[in-house]
Amino acid sequence: MKLRLKVFRYDPERGEKRYDTFEVDYEEGMTFLTAFNRIKENIDPSLTFRHFCRAGICGTCTVFINGFPKLACKEQVLPYLLTGEEVLVEPLDKFPVIKDLAVDHESVTDRMKKFHTWISEFKGEVRIPPDVSKKVEKAADCILCSACQSYCPQVLEEEYAGPLFFAKLYRFLEDPRDPNKELRLKEAVEEGHLYHCLSCDKCNNTCPKEVEPATLIRELMTYIKEHGKANC
Ligand code: SF4
Ligand code: SF4
Ligand code: FES
Repeated sequence: MKLRLKVFRYDPERGEKRYDTFEVDYEEGMTFLTAFNRIKENIDPSLTFRHFCRAGICGTCTVFINGFPKLACKEQVLPYLLTGEEVLVEPLDKFPVIKDLAVDHESVTDRMKKFHTWISEFKGEVRIPPDVSKKVEKAADCILCSACQSYCPQVLEEEYAGPLFFAKLYRFLEDPRDPNKELRLKEAVEEGHLYHCLSCDKCNNTCPKEVEPATLIRELMTYIKEHGKANC
């Protein structure tokens, strides 16, 4: 059986965009990442894509498959192959393309810095109660794959921080080691425009780690309502 892929190509030197069609022999258990590697090894060595762990952990291999963000290293080709249709492969939407399927993640890195998505200067000991640990577990599973961010309709609006960041924010809000809860909530509302979320659940449906950012966003809104913080 042959898998037919229609792959977006971008040559930054010529500024040229096009689609190339490749046919790849199916191998048992084949993922899209394996198919990309077969193209690179046997057909076109210039095909450019990102990957690292090959195990759904590093979050670097996300691409659009038939218009839906997927981890290339986890997504099996077989269900697509069985349709007999050509499969469309494109880079992540809403991110600048560097070459072919590789996009520039600088906007995410910049926002991570802007929203201080880390715990700073914690000294001393703390025991995280099991119920709190369970609560942050989900948000902490985020692998920064940007699937949610690229599929969220509100991210088109530049000011909206996006589901990836609100999932991170939720994780810190529940963490007893983080001293900046009020500041984080204020940033989420005033700089991240939390309330521009449409609650459309597209981010929940695309997340490969079941982080459910839309659900966490709704919990953040409830938290703000109940605690009356962040001047909102
Ligand atoms: S629920 Fe909110 S954050 Fe998630 S995709 Fe929809 S608008 Fe974006
Ligand atoms: S919340 Fe899910 S979809 Fe969004 S970046 Fe994290 S792992 Fe990826
Ligand atoms: S290569 Fe790491 S998540 Fe796919």
